[in-house]
Amino acid sequence: MSRSPSLPERPRLELDPDMSPSERLGALKEHFEQLVRVNSELEDQLANARERREALTEEVDELERENETLKTSSLYVATAEEITDDGVVVKQHGNNQEVLTELPTQLREALEAGDRVAINDSFSIQSQLETETDARAQAMEVDESPEVTYDDIGGLEAQIQEVREAVEEPLVNAEQFDEVGIDPPSGVLLHGPPGTGKTMLARAVANETDATFIKMAGSELVRKFIGEGSRLVRDLFELASEREPAIIFIDEIDAVAAKRTESKTSGDAEVQRTMMQLLSEMDGFEDRGEIRIIAATNRFDMLDRAILRPGRFDRLIEVPEPDAEGRRRILEIHTQDMSLADEVDFEHLAAETDGFSGAELASLATEAGMFAIRDGRTDVRTEDFEEALEKIEEGDQTEGQPVAFY
Ligand SMILES: Nc1ncnc2c1ncn2[C@@H]1O[C@H](COP(=O)(O)OP(=O)(O)OP(=O)(O)O)[C@@H](O)[C@H]1O
Ligand SMILES: [Mg+2]
Repeated sequence: MSRSPSLPERPRLELDPDMSPSERLGALKEHFEQLVRVNSELEDQLANARERREALTEEVDELERENETLKTSSLYVATAEEITDDGVVVKQHGNNQEVLTELPTQLREALEAGDRVAINDSFSIQSQLETETDARAQAMEVDESPEVTYDDIGGLEAQIQEVREAVEEPLVNAEQFDEVGIDPPSGVLLHGPPGTGKTMLARAVANETDATFIKMAGSELVRKFIGEGSRLVRDLFELASEREPAIIFIDEIDAVAAKRTESKTSGDAEVQRTMMQLLSEMDGFEDRGEIRIIAATNRFDMLDRAILRPGRFDRLIEVPEPDAEGRRRILEIHTQDMSLADEVDFEHLAAETDGFSGAELASLATEAGMFAIRDGRTDVRTEDFEEALEKIEEGDQTEGQPVAFY
């Protein structure tokens, strides 16, 4: 910055008492001229100063604007790892860089270790992130306690029992496994035709234990961006260890763990990378504490056998289509809140719905309710179920049978 020019010196009037009047007049004239010169010089300087002030104001405006954009420019997501007297240790997501930064006064009360924050280029914390704005939570569904209970599941008593042993017991009675000296199964794979209650079963276990339920759909993991799928897998396990005890549920696992195909497109390579990450997370699992993993698929035939090796998904639980007794129970469950006319015979309906999945039975109940409404009634009768059944069977014929790939 250029310095402002020094002010011209103030002219001094020197009058000698010995001067003659004409000499005095001359001196006064000269003084006057000097004053005029200085005055115009000052005026020039004033004009310059004004000009300069204008330029500076403009500069200030520009800097202010720049500052605004800097403030609103992209921030990085980080986790507050530790809050100490010296500040906060934050760990930047993506590169895992850890730094000690200052704890902003306005966050002093609110911020807790494990919270996610937004930081700028110089690692200063700009804001605390809500759990909802967490990118990981967007891809994963975190549920402290899902609402489904074992009682809502019909006809899967044996499967419920198996899941309880493999998932619930190790979470609830960890010491017992320690004492006996065995490791609980690493991962449980639920497999069976669509709509038979696999997802329900996984949710019910989480409800029954006080574990956090973290659900990730396999299709979510199959991102087309390099590295994103494997990063999500890493995050999934990291999140689970933060929320322990936790149940990780990977639905539609076939999307990530399908057999290697012939085609070698980059998409496939990315899916492979995601699966490798999943396998390596599971392999390094022993020391992760109270985390159980459940996966589900309706395409068991498609799975890469690598994921079924010991230490990975080594407990297979088949969830079949319900038998007559199962169908009766499922119908009962799904009509619990309906006002049924007394004569509705579930035994009979169960016999007539051979081959129906749980999901199809649920929609049969809804359909029957719709027929009652259409008829202006609030009670649902056998005839409504018969009509619903007819409609569903007709639908099946026109649309073709559901693909039996299982
Ligand atoms: N055994 C069951 N008991 C009660 N309701 C069931 C049962 N099976 C399925 N349903 C009903 O069908 C719906 C879908 O079930 P769910 O999502 O658990 O099926 P799924 O086996 O995971 O199917 P998919 O392989 O297509 O994912 C449930 O929300 C429930 O209403
Ligand atoms: Mg499912």
